[in-house]
Amino acid sequence: MSALGNLVIIFLSFLGLCFLWTFIKVVHKLWWRPTRMQKLMRSRGIKGPSYRFIHGNTKEILYMKNKAMEKPMSLSHNILPTVQPHIASWVKIYGKNYLQWYGTEAQLVVTEPEMIKEIFNNIHGAFPKFELHPLIKKIIGDGIINSEGEKWTKYRKLSNHAFHGESLKGLSPAMITSVENMLERWKSYEGKEIEVYEEFRLFTSDVILRTAFENNYQKGKNIFETLVRLIVLASDNIYKLRFPGISEFFKTNSQIELDMLDSQVGNNIIEVIKERERKVITGKEDNFGSDFLGLLLKAHHNAADNERISIKTVVGECKTFYSAGQETTNSLLAWVVLLLAIHKDWQEELRNEVLNLFGKQNPNPDNFAKLKKMGMVFNETLRLYPPAISLKRKVEREVRVGKYILPANLNLFLSALPVHHDSKIWGEDVHEFKPERFSQGVVGATNNNPAAFFPFGMGPRNCVGSNFAIVESKIALCMILQRYSFTLSPTYVHMPYHLVTTRPMYGIQVILEPL
Ligand code: HEM
Ligand SMILES: *[C@@H]1O[C@H](CO)[C@@H](O)[C@H](O)[C@H]1NC(C)=O
Repeated sequence: MSALGNLVIIFLSFLGLCFLWTFIKVVHKLWWRPTRMQKLMRSRGIKGPSYRFIHGNTKEILYMKNKAMEKPMSLSHNILPTVQPHIASWVKIYGKNYLQWYGTEAQLVVTEPEMIKEIFNNIHGAFPKFELHPLIKKIIGDGIINSEGEKWTKYRKLSNHAFHGESLKGLSPAMITSVENMLERWKSYEGKEIEVYEEFRLFTSDVILRTAFENNYQKGKNIFETLVRLIVLASDNIYKLRFPGISEFFKTNSQIELDMLDSQVGNNIIEVIKERERKVITGKEDNFGSDFLGLLLKAHHNAADNERISIKTVVGECKTFYSAGQETTNSLLAWVVLLLAIHKDWQEELRNEVLNLFGKQNPNPDNFAKLKKMGMVFNETLRLYPPAISLKRKVEREVRVGKYILPANLNLFLSALPVHHDSKIWGEDVHEFKPERFSQGVVGATNNNPAAFFPFGMGPRNCVGSNFAIVESKIALCMILQRYSFTLSPTYVHMPYHLVTTRPMYGIQVILEPL
C-alpha cells in the first residue's frame, strides 16, 4: 500500500476517534449524568418529573406557563398557579421538595421553610451562589451579588455602610426630590387614569440615579439609559444557544452591540470617577461626595490595602446597585398601589396614619417606625406578591440538610412564592389581603414560623438594600397619600407574571382623584 494510502487511513481513523469521543461526551452529558442523578435522588427519597432528553422539563414548564397566561386571572391573589404553575402542580404530586430539570441542570425545588433557612444560613459553607450566566454577569457587574469568601465580605461591608443608618438618612432628600418630580407629572392625570408601573419605573430609576450620581445627574442619566439598553439586549440573548469556543471567534450582531454598550457604560462611569478625582486632587472639593459613588471612591482610595477596591469593582457595583434595586422596588410599589386601590378601607387608614404623623409636610424617615399600619401593608404586599422569586444556590459537596443527603453538583431553587401562599402556615385565608395578620409582626403572622416569610432572602446573603427599598417606598407612598386618593380603573387586567421580578403584564391602571 502506498504511503499516501496509509496516511489517509490514519487520518480517517483519527477522525473516527474524534467523532466517537464527542459522541461519548455528548451521551454522558445529555443522558448518563442526568439519569444517574435522578436515580440517586429517588433512592434518597426525592422524586420529580422525569428527565427528558436535552430539554429536561423546560418544555413542560413553558407549556404550563403559556397555558396559565392564556386568559387573565380574576381579581384573586392566589397567584402561584399563574406565576409558577409548574411548582404549584409538582409540589402536589411529588412533595414539598422535588427534583426538576432545567435542560441538563438538576434543580432541587425547596419549599419547606426549615430547609430553606438551613440553606440560606449556610453554616457548613456548602451552598455558594449559583454560577451566573455570562450575560447576566455583564449586566449586574462583577461584584457583591456573585462573589464569595473574602471578596464578598469586603463588598458587603461597603454596601452595609452605604445602606444603613446615617448614610441612608443622607439619601432621603434625593428620594423626596424624585417623588416631587413624579408628582409634578401626575398633575396632568388628575381625575383621569394613570398607569403606575411605568410611573414607578421612572421613579425608581431616578432615585438610584440621584443617590448614586448625585453630583453628575446628566451623565448618570446617560449611563443608566445605556445600561437599560444593555439589560434589554442581554435578556433577549440569554436563551439563544451559544457554542463554546466558536462564539469567541464569530459574534452575532447583537453580541457585538452588547460588548459595545458594556464598554460604553464602563467608560462613562470611569469618566465621572476621573472628574471627581480631579476635583479632589486640585482642591476644588474636599471629598468624593456623599452619594453612593462617593462612598465607593473613598473605598477605592482608602489607604489600607485590604480595604481598597479596584476601579473595575466601582464600575461593577454601580451596575449592581441599579439592577438589584430598580425593578424590585418598582414592582413592590406597583403591587402596593393595586392592593390599596382594591382595599379602599386600608388606603383610608394609611392616609390617616400619614396625615396624623406628618400633616401635609414632607415625610421624615426618622419617624417611619411610627407608620405601623403602613409597615403591615408593605409586608402583606411582599407576602402576596414577592418581587424576587428566583433565588438559586448550588450544592458544592455532599452535605446533609434536614432529612436528606444532597449530592454535589445539584442546584437549589428557592422561591418565596409557594411558601408565602401555603395555607398550612398562614391559615385558610392565605390568599386574602389581610395586613392585620402582621399586627404582631412576622412571628405572629406566620404562626411562630418566621422562616416562612423571606421577601428579602435570609441569612448572610439577604438583601443589603432592603432598608433603602422600604424607606424609598414609604416616602413615595406617604407623599402620594397626602395628595391623592385612587381607585382601580375598569381597564385593569389582572395578569401577574415572572420576568426577573413578579410584575403586572399589562401594567396597573388606577383613577387618580386629588384630595
Ligand atoms: C423591594 C425591593 C427589593 C427586594 C424584594 C429585594 C430582594 C432581594 C433578595 C430576595 C435578595 C437575596 C438574593 C439571594 O439570596 O440569592 C437580595 C439581595 C440583594 N439585594 Fe435586594 N431587593 C430589593 C431592593 C434592593 C435595593 C434597593 C438594593 C440596592 C440599593 C438591593 C441590593 C441587593 C444586593 C446588593 C443583594 C446581594 C447581597 C449579597 O449577595 O450579599 N436590593 N435582594
Ligand atoms: C415586616 O417584615 C420585616 C422583615 O422583612 C420585619 O423586620 C418587620 O418587623 C415586619 N413588620 C411588621 C409590621 O410585620
